[in-house]
Amino acid sequence: MKDILEQLETRRDDARLGGGQKRIDAQHARGKLTARERIDLLLDDGSFEEFDMFVAHRCTDFGMEAERPAGDGVVTGWGTVNGRMVYVFSQDFTVFGGSLSETHAQKICKIMDMAMKNGAPVIGINDSGGARIQEGVRSLGGYADIFYKNVQSSGVIPQISAIMGPCAGGAVYSPAMTDFTLMVEDTSYMFVTGPNVVKTVTNEEVTSEELGGASTHSTKSGVAHKTSSNDAECLEDVKKLLSYLPQNNTETPEILEYNLNDEVRESLSNIVPDNANKPYDMHAVISGIIDEDSFYEIHKDYAENIIVGFARLGGKSVGIVANQPQFLAGVLDVNS
Ligand code: HXC
Repeated sequence: MKDILEQLETRRDDARLGGGQKRIDAQHARGKLTARERIDLLLDDGSFEEFDMFVAHRCTDFGMEAERPAGDGVVTGWGTVNGRMVYVFSQDFTVFGGSLSETHAQKICKIMDMAMKNGAPVIGINDSGGARIQEGVRSLGGYADIFYKNVQSSGVIPQISAIMGPCAGGAVYSPAMTDFTLMVEDTSYMFVTGPNVVKTVTNEEVTSEELGGASTHSTKSGVAHKTSSNDAECLEDVKKLLSYLPQNNTETPEILEYNLNDEVRESLSNIVPDNANKPYDMHAVISGIIDEDSFYEIHKDYAENIIVGFARLGGKSVGIVANQPQFLAGVLDVNS
């Protein structure tokens, strides 16, 4: 029995190494955390229950049978965030670039099904080169299953995507269908395919940042709802966002403790100018109305003529939609 337990621990240690120490070091050198480190930061201490740690791919083409790392490039399971149950998958870029195989997709689908059954949010931490090229259509089929579940879950449970690496193809189409997409500046990208493939096919040279960096998606396409300067900050943003959302469409969000800032509140009467042609900052009005420091702005740098986000009133979560007279006189255009 002792031997078996030792063997089990050895296998677990192997699985925790993903694609190996060299690739983990490369991940760190780029300023990125590993899939497991991200889960540790996201979830309450000791709350993570992992599923399918030893699952390996079944591909036998292109010599793939020689390399079958445990876990197959994604860590999945459930845990709690501030005591609330969430399901999570975290893609491991050190294993075949976090690319999605048939079995990798099955692991993700399993937690998506459980989240729907138990009425809990799904948080996807994406760091993946998309469909695993060696598996061809099997991998594409895996995406079809995930996309179907994204659609079924929509409006039923919250789906949040944190983009934390170079994501391509299906690894981008699925997050784009979820409710909120958060990106890390300078290390995360969302594109149909990477700059090298773009160059080969169209002969056009484009940088990763121009093609699908956090700045592009938060200012031009509007795909990214929020950006952060590093992995840890992004995961904090995910936790904060969750605090405004209910567990599912039959529940209400938590009511949290709150403070009122009387000084800010009193300044309300001086903000709106007498002259209707004079602009003013709507953020100041919002701050005067809501609980202290409770504004969580979405799309901060996109269509700045409108302000959207979450806030709290007396501890209750509310949505805010406000014209911003400081930009384009607060008109509504197609982006807003
Ligand atoms: C298998 C992949 C992979 C993929 C990366 N890798 N993407 N392996 N399938 N899709 C592997 C690389 O071979 C490499 O392995 C390791 O991951 C790291 O990749 P690098 O290229 O060294 O990293 P980097 O320079 O950071 O570039 C990351 C990247 C680039 C921008 C994601 O790898 C890239 O452009 N990959 C291809 C993207 C793509 O076209 N995917 C298919 C999308 S089609 P080693 O062994 O060297 O460490 C799709 C269709 C969905 O998803 C349709 C749904 C219906």
